[in-house]
Amino acid sequence: MKDLKKAEDLRVRLISWYADNARPLPWRETHDPYLIWISEIMLQQTQVATVIPYYLKFSKRFPTIKRLAEASLEEVLALWSGLGYYKRARQVKQSAEQIIKGFDGLIPRVHKDLLSLPGIGKYTAGAILSIAYDLNYPILDGNVMRVLSRVFAMDEVLNAKGVQNKLWSLAEKILPEKKAGMFNQALMELGALICLPSGKKSLCHDCPISESCEAHQKDLVSQLPKLPEKREKVKIQQVMFLLLEKKGFLILQRPDDVLLKGMWELPGKEISDQPHQEAAYQILKEDFAVDGNPHYLSSLSHSITYRAITCHVYLIHVSGEVKKSLMNRLESRTLEYRWIQRDELQDLPHSSLIDKVMLLLDPVQKDLF
Ligand code: ADE
Repeated sequence: MKDLKKAEDLRVRLISWYADNARPLPWRETHDPYLIWISEIMLQQTQVATVIPYYLKFSKRFPTIKRLAEASLEEVLALWSGLGYYKRARQVKQSAEQIIKGFDGLIPRVHKDLLSLPGIGKYTAGAILSIAYDLNYPILDGNVMRVLSRVFAMDEVLNAKGVQNKLWSLAEKILPEKKAGMFNQALMELGALICLPSGKKSLCHDCPISESCEAHQKDLVSQLPKLPEKREKVKIQQVMFLLLEKKGFLILQRPDDVLLKGMWELPGKEISDQPHQEAAYQILKEDFAVDGNPHYLSSLSHSITYRAITCHVYLIHVSGEVKKSLMNRLESRTLEYRWIQRDELQDLPHSSLIDKVMLLLDPVQKDLF
């Protein structure tokens, strides 16, 4: 009885708070299940502010699922460039084709059909069904986990056995009979705007459900949720080259058997603890058959999941015999390569690391291209 009252109280307060405080996000202006699906995939592991420009570009270029299914994978990846976790882009494209073929082009409204599509797990299925179709399915993402573990003062570590199941059943239990989509978004919004991670400023005084929150009542907010230990970032050093000639600069395509397969990148290599100047000279000579002294531009940091990369960027002009020797080496290593101008990059799938290198170039760019 007490639980029922708490759940009802929570629903009413949360939905009313959301009506007044929801951010005007672009995917909230549509009821199109296709666009809601795209937004939810983009929002996996990625911040709202980062997603907005990508969602706008993507929905403009592919306003319907048919247009997406008909596009080339290269174009989809090019639009996704910089957003990270590129597997999502491949899966979105693959799912679009499957939905056209197997579901008449309509985003399924049956839970198990959604789960049969690549890239759609329990969270995304719940988000699509509740937000797009207003069906009664719960969701559980990082924000919702934080809210629920505080409201119900769950003090077990989030990755301990059984804890995820407990959280899913709480998320289900508190769902209202109607407006599940709005309620789910309200829970996420509360996690994004008010119920912030420990370490950030606590905003409980602005929280619409603090009276129903056990952690707040017991002064446990800063201790919950109990997070699993973070995987330590692996530090990596690499050198990277801007090899310039009249027609632009050289890019290489990553082979099919590695992370970020098919994406274009600048030539380069991971190095050990030797000085990077020495490594740059040596790699250029041994791997690319270019015998010369590259000019050091700068070093920049880049993170990919658990890898913290420090990238030392070098520049060298190649022409005549030096270029011939380079081309021979590229051919013999059967590397896919292109010489491109800076503005061609946007049409090719590439990691945001190249964009960072391009920004580095800005002050001297006029002399180079
Ligand atoms: N994170 C995941 N889905 C979201 C949504 N629909 N709105 C805001 N943030 C989200």
